[in-house]
Order: sequence, then C-alpha cells, then structure tokens
Amino acid sequence: MRKERKREHVENYLKTCYLGDTLFQDIILDHNALPELNFDEIDTSCTICGKKASFPLMINAITGGADISEGINRDLSILAAKFQIPMAVGSETIALEDREARESFCIVREIMGEKGIILGNLSALSTLQDVEAAAEIIQADGMQLHLNAAQEMSMCEGDRCFRGTLKNIAYIKENYEKPLMIKEVGFGINKATAQRLYDVGIRWIDISGSGGTNFLEIENCRQQSIDFSELYCWGNPTAEVLIQCSELPDDLKLMASGGIKNAIHIVKSLVLGADLVGMSGEILNFLIHGGYEYTEQYFEGMIYKVKMIMLLLGAKNLEELKKVPFRIKGDLLNRLTAKKYR
Ligand code: FNR
Repeated sequence: MRKERKREHVENYLKTCYLGDTLFQDIILDHNALPELNFDEIDTSCTICGKKASFPLMINAITGGADISEGINRDLSILAAKFQIPMAVGSETIALEDREARESFCIVREIMGEKGIILGNLSALSTLQDVEAAAEIIQADGMQLHLNAAQEMSMCEGDRCFRGTLKNIAYIKENYEKPLMIKEVGFGINKATAQRLYDVGIRWIDISGSGGTNFLEIENCRQQSIDFSELYCWGNPTAEVLIQCSELPDDLKLMASGGIKNAIHIVKSLVLGADLVGMSGEILNFLIHGGYEYTEQYFEGMIYKVKMIMLLLGAKNLEELKKVPFRIKGDLLNRLTAKKYR
C-alpha cells in the first residue's frame, strides 16, 4: 500500500496542472550598473549541518521505497554530489516498516559518500526512536520532520489526529542530537506557526509555501470519493511566508521552498532572508522528462545565472545578498499589509 502510494505521488505529481503562485514576481530587485566585482569573486558557498556546500540549494524530499525510487534517488544523489549540495530523502516510514525498501534510501549515502550532506525525513508525529532509526539508515547529517495536515486530510487512509504534534516536536528536538528541520509540504509555515516552533527550540524551518507542488491535487488524482479541487488554492505563497518568517530572530535558519524553479527564484529567496533554498518538483520534472544529462545542464545554467544575478546586484557572497534592498508590489504587498480582523 505504502509502496504504491509513493509511486503514485511521483506519477500524479507529473500529471498535475494547477498553476499556483509563489508571488515572487511581486518582488522587485534593482539592477546595479556599477557592481565593482569580478565574476570569479562571487562566492555561493555555505555551511550546512557543519559541512561545506558550494551552493545554497537543497534537493528537497521527494521519494524512497517504491519501485521507481531507486533510480530517481540515484540520479538525485549523483547531482547532489557533483554540485556539492545537500539532499533530503523522501519519507522513510516505508523503510522502517519494510527492510527491502531501504536500498533506495541507502544508495544516497553510498553515492554521496562521507562528505555528502544528507537529511532524513519522517512525519512530525514520529517517535524519537523512529527518528533515530531513520537517521541511522542513511547516516543522516540531520533530519527533516514534515507537517502535512492538508495532505493527510485529503487522503482516505490519511491521519486525522494532529493533537500533540508540537509537544512531540519539542521532545524530539530536545533528545535528537543532530540538526532538526521542520518543514511543510507546499502549504506554507507562516510567522505565527514558525514562532510556536521557535518557542519550543526549533531553529531550522523549511517554510515550503504554496505556488509549486500541490499535494491536494496529487492526492485528488488518487481517489474519487471527495473532489478537493476547490481547495487547490489553499495555503500561503512562498514569498509571503518567507518575508513574514524572516522577521523572527536571526538564529532561526530558514529554507525557502515551494515553487522554486529558476535562478531568479533562488536569488529572490536569498535576498528575502532564506539561508538555503529547496527544490523538489521542478527537479523531478527535468529528470523524468529530460533525463540525467539534461538535468545536469539545467543545474549548471541555474548556478551560473545565480552568480550572474549576484554580480548584477553587487553582492559577492550570501551575506551581502541578504542585505540587498528590494521592493514589494501588487498582490504580495496587499497580502502583507491586509487589515487583520482578529
Ligand atoms: C514531495 N514532498 C515531500 N516532502 C516530505 O517532507 N516528505 C516526502 O516524502 C515528500 N514527498 C514528495 C514527493 C513528490 C513527488 C514531491 C513533488 C514532493 C514535498 C517537497 O519536499 C516540498 O516540500 C514541496 O514539494 C514543495 O516544493 P516544490 O516541489 O514546489 O519545489
């Protein structure tokens, strides 16, 4: 059942056609005609889980455990190793239940080696014991715990009990010794939720906003009993939640994900306050439709363009990029300044 669902998630993702909106187009960056920088000075390196990455992009959680997962995870980890970037595996619940399903996860560490930065992934309702066991399977450098109430509620077989999630997260944070990231799956972690996570000790959040992968549509393709299409617009856009969450204390590290597709999205995320950017759906698109080599070219082009835009903004590293001024217009501005009634 779980294996089948994992395969359907990938297949149905590729069938989805709802066009969400990250609202990144409402961010204006100004061209600097006098950058006074050389291209080879542009430094995109950063430290993640105590290891060095050459570019602030994470291949975010996608898959593991299904028949098609091994090939996908092999290609993704070859990409991650080649570009020295971190990678998170898909939910490992299936690997905890079924030893045979482990190979498609283990292959990631086999390919990326000791230097590779690899994050495990489980539900935020998991036990500490499961988190430690999932980390062990891939010798994880850190773990992601996902919040996915909207997705679960749209699945016939999904969870219906979410009480105690924050307490569970607090307990795991206190007892799991490596970095712990709390993430959404494309509906957004807003400032109020991020503050609640911060208050129980969480210092790393993937805001995973709306505008990219839409799990209500993915799940809608799997079942016919209730039609969820009117909820495809549910969630908070990536640019909105990122701006809100960046107002929280500096020791809260943010990953921006949800609809990240190109160099402009990456640069805008970093300017808005992200420490790292995550990408799932678009990589899967390139990999399945174009193959490994085409995806590698896409990455090469994207990295070049991020560096090029950094030069055109006069920012030679990620620290300077975070200080670049920006303007906000349109719908994003309206949403951020909308009157609160309660
Ligand atoms: C996902 N995502 C996901 N997240 C997670 O925490 N555990 C998981 O197992 C999965 N599985 C998964 C499968 C597929 C096919 C996709 C496309 C995505 C969610 C993912 O990590 C990310 O949070 C969202 O997809 C938003 O980012 P993108 O896809 O818009 O870049």
